[in-house]
Amino acid sequence: MNPTVAQPSSLLSATGLCKSFGGIHAVQNAEIHVEQGSIVGLIGPNGAGKTTLFNLLCNFLTPDQGTVVFDGTPIQSLPCHKIALQGMVRTFQVARVLSRLSVLDNMLLAAPHQQGEQLR
Ligand SMILES: Nc1ncnc2c1ncn2[C@@H]1O[C@H](COP(=O)(O)OP(=O)(O)OP(=O)(O)O)[C@@H](O)[C@H]1O
Ligand SMILES: [Mg+2]
Repeated sequence: MNPTVAQPSSLLSATGLCKSFGGIHAVQNAEIHVEQGSIVGLIGPNGAGKTTLFNLLCNFLTPDQGTVVFDGTPIQSLPCHKIALQGMVRTFQVARVLSRLSVLDNMLLAAPHQQGEQLR
């Protein structure tokens, strides 16, 4: 991954992120900066570490090293649900619903206060 230059306005900034699974170095010294209002893609071959990087950004996996700052606040030690409440919401590669809940209840679980579509 090519690092981009950090801007003071970066909404999301991660530096030095590392994660290994035994001898597999899934993410090595990754750096990413996402500016407010931008749309950014992450591409790479199977096994490149994309999902692991997403998991590190939202602390779904604990990084071995590295820092993640969202909207000016270091978040790498916050639990996932607190990061989500701060406004950084992730999706999963394989989307799942909670089968014991109704369709409506599943939809009500969506993050509140999003700028996109709303459940009315
Ligand atoms: N929980 C885990 N335990 C052990 N190894 C893992 C684990 N998660 C990921 N890996 C390994 O880390 C590497 C990166 O995997 P990752 O799933 O992040 O890649 P990816 O870029 O998302 O791939 P894909 O395009 O197939 O989704 C792979 O070698 C994978 O086998
Ligand atoms: Mg993946």
